[in-house]
Amino acid sequence: MKKLSAEKQASRRAVLAAGLSAAAATGIGIVPDVAEAAEGAPDGTSTLSFAEIPHKLSPVHEVSPGHDVQILLRWGDALTEAAPAWTPETQSAAAQKVQFGYDNDFIAFKPLPYGSNSSTRGLLCINHESTRNQLMFPGFDKRKLDDISKEYADVEIAASGHTIVEVALKNGQWGVNLKSRYNRRITADTEIDITGPAAGHARMRTTDDPKGVLALGTFANCAGGETPWGTVLTAEENIHFFFGGDPKRTSEAANHQLMGLGGERFYGWQAHYPRFNVEAEPHEPNRFGWIVEIDPYSPDKRPAKRTAMGRFKHEAAGVVVNPDGRVVCYLGDDELFQYIYKFVSSKKVNTKDRMRNWGLLDEGTLYTARFNADNTITWLPLELGSGPLTAANGFASQADVLIDARRAASLVGATPMDRPEDLEYNKFTNTIFVALTKNNRRTDANVDAANPRTRNRHGHVIEIVPGLDHTAPTARWQFLFLGGDPSDPAVKAQYHPGVSAKGWLSNPDNFTVDPKGRLWISTDGANDYGFDDGLWATDVVGEGRALTKHFFSCPIGGELTGPTFTPDGTTLFCSVQHPGDTGDDSSFVTPATRWPDFKDGIPPRPSVIAIRTTSGKPIG
Ligand code: FEO
Ligand code: CA
Ligand code: CA
Ligand code: CA
Repeated sequence: MKKLSAEKQASRRAVLAAGLSAAAATGIGIVPDVAEAAEGAPDGTSTLSFAEIPHKLSPVHEVSPGHDVQILLRWGDALTEAAPAWTPETQSAAAQKVQFGYDNDFIAFKPLPYGSNSSTRGLLCINHESTRNQLMFPGFDKRKLDDISKEYADVEIAASGHTIVEVALKNGQWGVNLKSRYNRRITADTEIDITGPAAGHARMRTTDDPKGVLALGTFANCAGGETPWGTVLTAEENIHFFFGGDPKRTSEAANHQLMGLGGERFYGWQAHYPRFNVEAEPHEPNRFGWIVEIDPYSPDKRPAKRTAMGRFKHEAAGVVVNPDGRVVCYLGDDELFQYIYKFVSSKKVNTKDRMRNWGLLDEGTLYTARFNADNTITWLPLELGSGPLTAANGFASQADVLIDARRAASLVGATPMDRPEDLEYNKFTNTIFVALTKNNRRTDANVDAANPRTRNRHGHVIEIVPGLDHTAPTARWQFLFLGGDPSDPAVKAQYHPGVSAKGWLSNPDNFTVDPKGRLWISTDGANDYGFDDGLWATDVVGEGRALTKHFFSCPIGGELTGPTFTPDGTTLFCSVQHPGDTGDDSSFVTPATRWPDFKDGIPPRPSVIAIRTTSGKPIG
């Protein structure tokens, strides 16, 4: 989710060595261990054959020639046969609960039936990160958040969270199966179990939930991850925007201020629901900021907040099964000068019975990363009693360590990073790619080896190279590229020298890996540089490493998120999030674009798109 700095709004208004292996891991529990050459460019150029598109700024999307873009699911589209038609002037929470939500972000494609490799039938599991009242509701002024009607607040609550919907490909077009038993919405007031070491802790208890084990809802669901047992992990990120009240007047003052509560706020739900006022319910924010596991194949199963993986502004989860069978999740905290983490499960994955893995992520060890100047990483455990994590520093239990993971990581000496966004495991290289989106507060006084640019406006991508054992206490790291315009020496960008004037990018955010091991990179922030956010791709091994190429450009104000391929690589699903959000002057009545409907009176609609080649062959 983009964060609207004053700088950004002003600007908008102005309108490898990494390669361990190419062995394709299949099924559960396999990490490649054969050092054969990954597919690299034979002639010293990119293996990606699509034609690049230029940077542009316009109300419409644009894709590389030879590709079709289908608008598959728009905000308000029906998810069941009984769902009413979307009527933007007369919205209701009851309708929104069975319609596609707002600001779709992370997407997972889960083949149907489970265990198949289908690329023509599956479940789309999609986050809804935010709601934008001014673009959603006629006449709404976002500066008057606390005047929001209960009706509108309830629509926003119902438009948040997550959607699971069955889709199928027929004659080159994707369609939604409105009859599917899997279709469901998880919203900001759906019941969700709290599990792991912080479940039931006194700091997790509220008036509504005196046992501290059952949260109402999930929100701020940004990116995520997928487990090898068929579940989806959704990351609760910017939870502070949802809570009103003064955190300094609560028992959790330091915690809430470190998480950003009491600052900028985008929601007025507290006007109708006291749990969103920290002074009324000081523990409620402690029940958000977690990784939530959802089983899309079990439509009646409650999701679970996995507290063993720590509480911060979670962006994503890159999941790996270690050769010994334990699960490792790479995690990041998307905020200036926050940290990268990994979670190592205590137990091994059950490869025979997927349901036995529900709860696997409740026991294990959380580590945070120190990036050393010699290109090594030291993984520092966040365990009660370890180093400074003691009662003397306010950690009376492991629950305290997990609820206050930011403070714990800081005390053990983690490296403050330039806003960690997605972390993506690439099975072809057995490495993890990390997007550091930007940090305009990085100064000469605090640059370091892994965050080398002062006032890092364009962001960079780091590759974590763990070796064969992801549970080891150390790893190595290297850059993939440093973003920005390589023709401007002041930017200090670093890519393959062959990157074109179209191919450079700023503010990497989400990743996906295609079936040939290439990295696809979406961006959030390009409007600051006079063009639209979109999608780029690059080889990560061979001669084409870091030769980024521009594939797709969003409509103005939109951010591309959630890219994911079908297993055969013929369809690329993406989210176009907050189209038309160019700042204060864009509204339901006068939006910067009416993408994708382009009908008078219809506001822009965040949508999932499906991109295919006109030939039906794999993309890329
Ligand atoms: Fe929701 Fe960090 O982007
Ligand atoms: Ca972002
Ligand atoms: Ca993001
Ligand atoms: Ca990703």
